[in-house]
Parts: sequence; C-alpha cells; structure tokens
Amino acid sequence: MNMAATTATRPGLDELVTGISGIVARRLRPRETAYAVADLLRDRLPGPGLLTPQEREGSPDGYVSRVLHAQEDFSIVTVVWRPGQYTVIHDHVSWCAFGILSGIEHETLYRDMGDHLVEIGRADNRPGEVSGFAPPGDIHMVRNTSDEIGISVHVYGADVGRLGSSVRRVYDLPVR
Ligand SMILES: [Fe+2]
Repeated sequence: MNMAATTATRPGLDELVTGISGIVARRLRPRETAYAVADLLRDRLPGPGLLTPQEREGSPDGYVSRVLHAQEDFSIVTVVWRPGQYTVIHDHVSWCAFGILSGIEHETLYRDMGDHLVEIGRADNRPGEVSGFAPPGDIHMVRNTSDEIGISVHVYGADVGRLGSSVRRVYDLPVR
C-alpha cells in the first residue's frame, strides 16, 4: 500500500509552523501578532505546491477552506476559490494574517450600526500581497474577482480545527 499521497509533508508548511510558533510565544498584543505573522508570510509565502493539484481545483459548490495545521494558539488554513466565489459577511474569532498565492481577494469592509451595516472600505488583495488584522472592526466579505482560481493562506490565532471555523458571527443585516 502506498501512503505517500496522504502522508507527504506540504512544502513550506513546517517552516511556517516553526516561524509562527516563535511569534505567538512572544505573547504580543493581537494586532502586533497579526502584523508579525504577516511579515513572516511576506518573507516565506509558500508556493502553490502547498496544496495538491486536486486541492487547487476548488469546488463548483463554493470556496473551500482547508485546515493544514491547528494547535491551541494558531491555525493555518488555505482557501481556494473559483472565479466569482464569495463569503457571507462575517467577522472573526481572533487575529488573522493572510497572503495571496493566486487570484484576487476583493474585500469589502463594513461597520455594524446595530440594525444595519454601512460599507466603510474596499481592498484588492493580489498575488504576493500579505495583510494582518485583529478584531474588532474586522467585519468583511471576500470575493475572488479575478478570472482564475484564487488561493490564499490564512493564519488565525485560534484552534480552528477545534472551533470548526474562524467565523465569530455571520451578519445577516441590510447594507445601507
Ligand atoms: Fe474573513
């Protein structure tokens, strides 16, 4: 029996885990941790070989999140989106740093006004670009606006494997 396909190390993953572990051990404030992890991603952004060719195809049913590594204080997640696929409006359980491998993650940011949301900004995140943020003020929706498959790496300051998701709340409010 050949188990190579399921046990092979993902290129660049061990290095990221080691680097991120060193940062979270410094116990910085959440926003500073996110920025430090973003700097690490900028220097060591993995290539598409982090995912198998099959994983890189995504799904016609919606974007695909995949937890590559999870421990108590951080998780590494990849997201694969076909052109036009998008998230619901949501915020997050923890700080996050992310880097784009392919496609364009177009982000729309919102403020919660209680009974509705207002749009407060937009950003295009392109291949090679890296960002970090920490709650509060992290309500957004994300769409792959490019015409190619989008792939990104997200690092969250929580055990997403245990929680099941990085989403704190989904916002089903009108946007005015
Ligand atoms: Fe998000």
